[in-house]
Amino acid sequence: MIAKLLLDKKREGHALGSAEIREFIDGFTKGEIPDYQMSAMAMAICCRGMNERETADLTEAMMNSGRSLKWDFPTADKHSTGGVGDKLSFIIQPLAAACGINVPSLTGRGLGLTGGTADKLESIPGLTCSLPLDRFQSVVKEVGLSLALQTDEICPADKKLYALRDVTGTVTSIPLIVGSILSKKFAEGSGTLVFDVKTGRGAFMKTKESAVELATAMVKAAQLSGRKSAALVTDMDSPLGYAVGNANEVKESLDILSRADKGLEDIRDLSVEFAALMVSLTKGISLDDAREMCAEKLADGSALAKFKAMVAAQGGDLDRFARLLEKPTFKFCIQAPKSGYVEDIDAEKVARVAFRLGAGREKAGDRIDPLAGVKLAARIGDKVSTGSALATLESSSEPDGLERNAAELLKAFSIVSGPVVKKSLIIERIS
Ligand code: URA
Repeated sequence: MIAKLLLDKKREGHALGSAEIREFIDGFTKGEIPDYQMSAMAMAICCRGMNERETADLTEAMMNSGRSLKWDFPTADKHSTGGVGDKLSFIIQPLAAACGINVPSLTGRGLGLTGGTADKLESIPGLTCSLPLDRFQSVVKEVGLSLALQTDEICPADKKLYALRDVTGTVTSIPLIVGSILSKKFAEGSGTLVFDVKTGRGAFMKTKESAVELATAMVKAAQLSGRKSAALVTDMDSPLGYAVGNANEVKESLDILSRADKGLEDIRDLSVEFAALMVSLTKGISLDDAREMCAEKLADGSALAKFKAMVAAQGGDLDRFARLLEKPTFKFCIQAPKSGYVEDIDAEKVARVAFRLGAGREKAGDRIDPLAGVKLAARIGDKVSTGSALATLESSSEPDGLERNAAELLKAFSIVSGPVVKKSLIIERIS
């Protein structure tokens, strides 16, 4: 294979063959194709695109750059493109596991405004998501579920390519995003992949059109590579739930799993919907039957038991977590400036405040304050009166810039005089 000829081919807008894509990625992984040729290919893909088959081939090739896991039982996972207050993995994954499906879920740390699943989960004292792959495999076999960090053995080509995309203006290319996200999900070995593609102010995909395009490309690439797959495009204009941070999000998930979730019915229902998609595709049963099974497993405490078993297997101590939540921390409450109904809460503004309070990290390796974040006191549609609580800023100790953060958080809320109709969280279904 002569890399330059493949660059000419893609620059002219032609489709690359499966073997050509495989050899290009293989050469790049081994260092035989230099960064400048990979960067040129990334730009050519960005400008010319890739068809569904090429995207699936790129994904397989990236998966094969490292280790990939195989299971001898049915497996499924859900991947979210990430959002503000997105704690759904702590509900959906245990719920699917409680329905008898094994869930090997490799995840990442957060960078930027929103925290990652691993960071949130590690706010439970003792718990680690840094599991060697063989330990990850045994937790999945013992418990039916593990949420762990991907290791360096998984998709080394993605790590190298992402670093180039970041500095060559090629991060936004849909085939490259699909290859990057899906290769890691393929490597964990899940036979069913369900995607939560979020759209709105607090999401990576700001418009509905771009979110639908990404969701469709992910589902098609997964299906063409022999996996069962579906996606929901969901709203991320406003935060999910009351809690935005780390420990507070885990606590809120535990409340939903324990059915102590007043005011969180929308999140509970969305979680049931995602888990039902996983169950229905994996078991080959109707979505209605799967929904019923998931609702039962949530109500009878089986999903909570799965979550607890996973926490214990990964070293976590929920008694110490309960004591951590009782620790006196810095809290500052913002109040409604007028009476009315909450019409809107800007997810991006809330995320920015939570980030500045210490809930996120600017660069890899930065320390996160597990107790930092924002706790909403009112959600969209709620009636508020002048002086009633809208939200609390929280952190382990008094933060810098409290006034600025409180003012920004207040600006996230819009209050109107008449009742507000809540939007559905599900915007589009892709299968
Ligand atoms: N997440 C990834 O892992 N890769 C991308 O390209 C975008 C989001």
